[in-house]
Amino acid sequence: MRTQGLLISIDGTAGTGKSTVGKAVAAKLGYGFLSTGEMYRALAYTVFAKHIDPDDHDGVLAATRAMRFTFARQADATLKMFVDGEYLGAKLHLEEVGNVASRVSTNGEARRVLTEKMREVGETGGIVMEGRDIGTVVFPDADIKFYLDASAEERANRRFKQLKEAGENPNYDEILRLIKERDARDKGRAVSPLKPADDAIIIDTSLLNLQQVIDAVLEKIPHHAS
Ligand code: DC
Repeated sequence: MRTQGLLISIDGTAGTGKSTVGKAVAAKLGYGFLSTGEMYRALAYTVFAKHIDPDDHDGVLAATRAMRFTFARQADATLKMFVDGEYLGAKLHLEEVGNVASRVSTNGEARRVLTEKMREVGETGGIVMEGRDIGTVVFPDADIKFYLDASAEERANRRFKQLKEAGENPNYDEILRLIKERDARDKGRAVSPLKPADDAIIIDTSLLNLQQVIDAVLEKIPHHAS
């Protein structure tokens, strides 16, 4: 065991509730929670703000190297992320930023830079880290690994409902198309493609609600069955 506790990884496709589940599990254990997608999203945002082409390998790498990440643990377990001292907040969760994030994350060298930063944050343990390659690449020696998945149709349904509840006028077919496109890119990239680690516990969340997923995860954590 690491000095601060277990290192728990949660990987999986977009829209499976990894963040909500990870945060709830971390809060229950008194651990920190880091969503590593935020780092790729921050890179996407920076690339966009600096008018760098997301496919410009060297430009994206230089931007990644120049970013200074700091984290502050919040009451809800989240490690709030600052880039060069600035909190980027809700801007990172725009649909467009997610798509550029998926594009810049195909840059292998930029991934290595961000992976190093993730290791610095997680190496002492006592943390739930959520992403795409935490159990396979960032921490192949994580103490417990989870992989969450759900059908693309179910994830599109959930996103559709969320946007509708937020007062928007979403298009289901378009959401489904974007989800499938992102899955294909995340799973098909040459470097660190999205896939379950050999020793990951795979949970299909298609037919489960959030609480059931949280319970399923907690059940697998030694001495912390809820
Ligand atoms: O989880 P998310 O939607 O916030 O992630 C945004 C993008 O970042 C995702 O499409 C792929 C990339 N990502 C990654 O490549 N590796 C990670 N560990 C986390 C995210």
